[in-house]
Amino acid sequence: MLKKLKLGVVGVGNIFKYAHLPAWSAHPEVEIVAFCDVNESAAAAMAREHAVAGVYTDYREMFADKEIDMVDITTPNLFHSEVSIAALHAGKHVYCEKPDAINPEEAQRMADEAKKSGNILMVTRNNRFRAESRFLKTYIEKGHMGDIYTGRCGWQRRWGIPGSGWFTNKALSGGGPLIDLGIHFIDLSVWLMGSPKPVSVVGAAYSKFGDKHLQLSQTVQSSRNQAAYKNDVEDLASGFIRFDNGATLQIEFSWASHVEEEMAYLELRGTQAGAKLTDRECKLFTDIEGISCDITPKFPAGIHPHTENINHFVDCVQRRTEPIILPQFGVDMVKILSAIYTSAETGSEVKL
Ligand SMILES: NC(=O)c1ccc[n+]([C@@H]2O[C@H](COP(=O)([O-])OP(=O)(O)OC[C@H]3O[C@@H](n4cnc5c(N)ncnc54)[C@H](O)[C@@H]3O)[C@@H](O)[C@H]2O)c1
Repeated sequence: MLKKLKLGVVGVGNIFKYAHLPAWSAHPEVEIVAFCDVNESAAAAMAREHAVAGVYTDYREMFADKEIDMVDITTPNLFHSEVSIAALHAGKHVYCEKPDAINPEEAQRMADEAKKSGNILMVTRNNRFRAESRFLKTYIEKGHMGDIYTGRCGWQRRWGIPGSGWFTNKALSGGGPLIDLGIHFIDLSVWLMGSPKPVSVVGAAYSKFGDKHLQLSQTVQSSRNQAAYKNDVEDLASGFIRFDNGATLQIEFSWASHVEEEMAYLELRGTQAGAKLTDRECKLFTDIEGISCDITPKFPAGIHPHTENINHFVDCVQRRTEPIILPQFGVDMVKILSAIYTSAETGSEVKL
């Protein structure tokens, strides 16, 4: 019989409440023993509601508890690296929300600390756990798409600049829709392509709606800290990534733009077949007996990608299952995002 793993949580905001908490609570091998949040009343309310004894405002004090085996980090992006490194150093396994870190140096420090400590560091990649993604991964690994040589991916919102202050504050978030949404679909595309190494990028970034957003949100804004509510990130970023095997990927991510409707998508082109995955459908395009065929696979309902990702993390901790998300992928991903921002600023290609 495996022992129950004791979990401490750092950050009890939206994603924790709506996506992580149901997964941890339902897991028979996990017991939540402590909540930490700089907002003490939020941590205390969560502890009361779930009959948990530990309440902290400083994660270092929480990590001193030797009983805690693993930590879930759902703070704003800036804190992911410092909290992960402190937890790994204190002997905890770490499950952290995306993005890994706000720059490649911090992501590398996290990966180095995971290696040194021997503990598991897994950064959320919930889109890899969609039924469609897992099907495509197997389909591709079995060679059905042939050589995947190019693709494109994006997530475009017509009007969807996040309303909670830190997302639009570069010091806290590391950037706008590229780091927020881009990490989901660039990661998924690169993983499906077989994780080739990125070698260069060209990027562009635009901030056309930030001020308008502030005007529209004045009522919300008046009740918040003005400094935390500034908007100094892009609202659209696009780019082109080259990989060491010659493959390429076009990208486009926006929180606000004049498009018909919100759409998250990826398209991959292989020599034997193509694949399209959106938030609504998955389709394959191939030739059968010389005839072009579109195939629409049907997937079972009721798969929750965040829950599947958390279950995979617990399996890796308990049974030492090989993780499908490695810290080095995170370092490469943050390098891509950071290089796109640099290219956008300089107007030049950036070699990785
Ligand atoms: N994978 C996904 O689908 C997905 C979706 C949304 C958000 N996220 C990620 O989850 C993270 C949190 O986003 P959110 O929307 O829940 O934000 P949020 O603002 O709702 O919650 C963040 C919480 O962290 C607390 N906090 C801030 N600094 C802290 C610190 N130093 N120590 C302890 N607590 C601290 C805040 O008080 C707040 O309660 C972000 O990194 C975001 O990118 C991922």
